[in-house]
Amino acid sequence: MTRLNLAILISGRGSNMKALLEAARDPAYPARPVMVLSNRPDAGGLETATAEGVATAVVDHKDFGKDREAFERAMDAKLEAAGTEIIALAGFMRVLTPWFVEKWSGRLINIHPSLLPKYKGLDTHQRAIDAGDAEAGCSVHWVTAGVDEGAVIQQARVPIQPGDTADALAARILPEEHSLYPAALAKACAEIKARA
Ligand code: GRF
Repeated sequence: MTRLNLAILISGRGSNMKALLEAARDPAYPARPVMVLSNRPDAGGLETATAEGVATAVVDHKDFGKDREAFERAMDAKLEAAGTEIIALAGFMRVLTPWFVEKWSGRLINIHPSLLPKYKGLDTHQRAIDAGDAEAGCSVHWVTAGVDEGAVIQQARVPIQPGDTADALAARILPEEHSLYPAALAKACAEIKARA
């Protein structure tokens, strides 16, 4: 069985990245991690990736000033050199330009902590609480030019409880993210293979 070469983009602690790397330890998993790339040299996830035996790279957006495309071209060169076939954004905190999104269209997915199409962008947990929603959750979706707007691949739901704070809700959703992302990535790989 061919496994797609997976690159994971992170900016921080990388707990979703870790869940993907753990799933991919199984040789039957449809993606094989080839690289974890961070835009922040101090991202905690880099150490975790190294401990998992996965190559890491840093492209610091601060080295490129306001030139977002130059930053992305530098990332793209590393992704291509690693033979990347699918990219999973996992807490990657830079908005991508249409150039990058277009280039990787149909091979670029993201995890977002809300039940999309609700609460695109930031502060998703507080916004769900403030709206009086009965439930919240997380979504894995294809990345398109509009932030958090691409088609949803898979979602997981959790109840919002009386008195919930954003932190409490985030802590309830996070383990769901960790089971959802490997499953949704496997589904994305199947879709890519079916297209080929
Ligand atoms: C997660 O909540 C993810 O949904 C969001 O950013 C957070 C990243 O956490 N996009 P981690 O770095 O994967 O631990």
